[in-house]
Amino acid sequence: MKTVVTYGTFDLFHVGHIRLLKRLRELGDRLVVGLSSDDFNELKGKKSFFSYEERAEIVGACKYVDEVFPEHNWEQKLSDVKKYNVDIFAMGDDWEGKFDFLKDLCEVVYLPRTEDISTTSIKSTLASYDRQELEKVEQSLHDVIAVVKAMSR
Ligand code: CTP
Repeated sequence: MKTVVTYGTFDLFHVGHIRLLKRLRELGDRLVVGLSSDDFNELKGKKSFFSYEERAEIVGACKYVDEVFPEHNWEQKLSDVKKYNVDIFAMGDDWEGKFDFLKDLCEVVYLPRTEDISTTSIKSTLASYDRQELEKVEQSLHDVIAVVKAMSR
């Protein structure tokens, strides 16, 4: 049983996220995701659109993901690798080299990101919308959550 771990915020879940998770799952037999908690995001100067609970529900409903757990701080990766019996630690290549200190404990890989999409770019596109357009988008996003909830029952 080969376990792969990755970390991220995964806010406004998009095709770049799903493609990364698919490729990560193909590296092993089990994919566990350390999802940034809302407090950790605050520490990083980030604010997600969806709460930790909502993001965990969405990421956990993805068929490539076996387990989701909260990431509360930068330091916990060392103990997580042991706790989850991790064989491969993998991230998108925007993190290239940043987690090489884990190489003593497991394999560390960085995969190419999907081009031209990020949560930040979605947010800036939305920022150019007027109030009425934004209300429609907000409603659609909450509809997505309702569908995910219904599917995971
Ligand atoms: N990722 C990817 N391709 C993208 C966007 C993200 O492979 N186009 C990967 C990142 O490299 C990371 C994981 O998805 O390993 C989670 O990234 P996250 O930071 O949550 O997503 P971003 O869209 O990059 O969000 P932001 O713009 O807030 O950084």
